[in-house]
Amino acid sequence: DWTMHAFRAEAVKAIRAQVGQGRVLCALSGGVDSSVAALLIHEAIGDRLTCVFVDHGMLRQGEAEQVVSLFRGHYNIPLVHVDASETFLKALDGVQEPEEKRKIIGKLFIDVFDAEAKKIAADGRGAPEFLAQGTLYPDVIESVSFQGGPSVTIKSHHNVGGLPARMKMKLVEPLRELFKDEVRALGRELGLPEIFVGRHPFPGPGLAIRLPGGVTAEKLAILRKADAIYLDEIRKAGLYDKIWQAFAVLLPVKSVGVMGDGRTYDFVCALRAVTSTDGMTADFFHFDMNFLGRAATRIINEVRGINRVVYDVTSKPPGTIEWE
Ligand code: XMP
Repeated sequence: DWTMHAFRAEAVKAIRAQVGQGRVLCALSGGVDSSVAALLIHEAIGDRLTCVFVDHGMLRQGEAEQVVSLFRGHYNIPLVHVDASETFLKALDGVQEPEEKRKIIGKLFIDVFDAEAKKIAADGRGAPEFLAQGTLYPDVIESVSFQGGPSVTIKSHHNVGGLPARMKMKLVEPLRELFKDEVRALGRELGLPEIFVGRHPFPGPGLAIRLPGGVTAEKLAILRKADAIYLDEIRKAGLYDKIWQAFAVLLPVKSVGVMGDGRTYDFVCALRAVTSTDGMTADFFHFDMNFLGRAATRIINEVRGINRVVYDVTSKPPGTIEWE
C-alpha cells in the first residue's frame, strides 16, 4: 500500500522531531491501535520507547502470551509485562454492577501503570516525558462532540484513554489522522501479523463485562475456554473476518442437563456475534444452524461447568453489543 508506505516515513519523521532525545512510554493492550502505535514509535526512536503491558487477568485465552512473544521476542521492543491478575480479581471481589466493575478496573489500571512508570523513571536513563496513545481520528472527533453530546451515559467505556490526565506527560499520538481500516493497512505495512491486524475489537475491561454478576477466577477460566472454542470454530468456518465481534458470555444462571446417565446442574453460556461498521449500531450475525450446533456441542463436551448454550439474536439497538 503506497499511501501507508509514505505515511509511515512521514510519521517516523514527525515522531523523531517531537521526541528528540526523549523517552516514550506506551501502554500496550494487544489491540491493533496500541500495537501499531508502538511499532511506529519503535521504528522512530528504538530503545527509547518502553512498552508497558498491564495484564489485568481479564484477557482471552493465550492473548497475554501472544503480546509478550510478539513484542519482546519477535520485535525485540523493551516490554514490561505486569501480571496484575490477582490485584484486579481481589478488587472485583463481590462487585456485581457493570459500571462499578468498569470504574474499579479503569482506576486500578491507571494505578498499576503509574507505579510501573515510576519504576521506569528511576532506571537511570532519565524519566520518560512522553506518553504514546493509539488515538484514532474517530476518537478525536468523539471527544470533541462528547462535551455537547447527550447527557445519558449508557456505558462509561473505561480504557487507557483515562491515562494522560493523571500522568502529566506530553502525548505522542501518531495515529490521530487515521481511521481504523487505515491503521490496519499501516499495521500490515509494518509487518504486524494478521492475527493482530484483523483482530475483533475488545473492550478495555475485558472478560469482566462478559461475566454478568460477580467475577471469580473459576468463572473466568470457564468463560475463557468456551470463548476460545467458539472463536476457533468461527475461524475454521472462515467467518472471522465477516464478523465485527464474536464472543461468549457466561451467564450467572444454572440449568439442569443430562450427561451419560447422570444429572448435571451447570452454567448457561450465551454466544454473541454481530456485524457492524462502527459499533454504534449492529445486527446479530446469521449463522447457519449447523455451525451453531457444532460450536455448542464442542463447548458442552469440552468445558466442564457449562451444560447449555444459547445464541443471542438481539441487534443494536435495542440491545448493546456487550451484555454489560
Ligand atoms: P456496546 O456494548 O456499548 O459496545 O454496544 C460498543 C463497542 O464498545 C466496546 N465496549 C467497550 N470498549 N471499554 C472499551 O474500551 C468499555 O468499557 C467498553 N464497553 C463496550 C464493545 O466491545 C463494542 O465494540
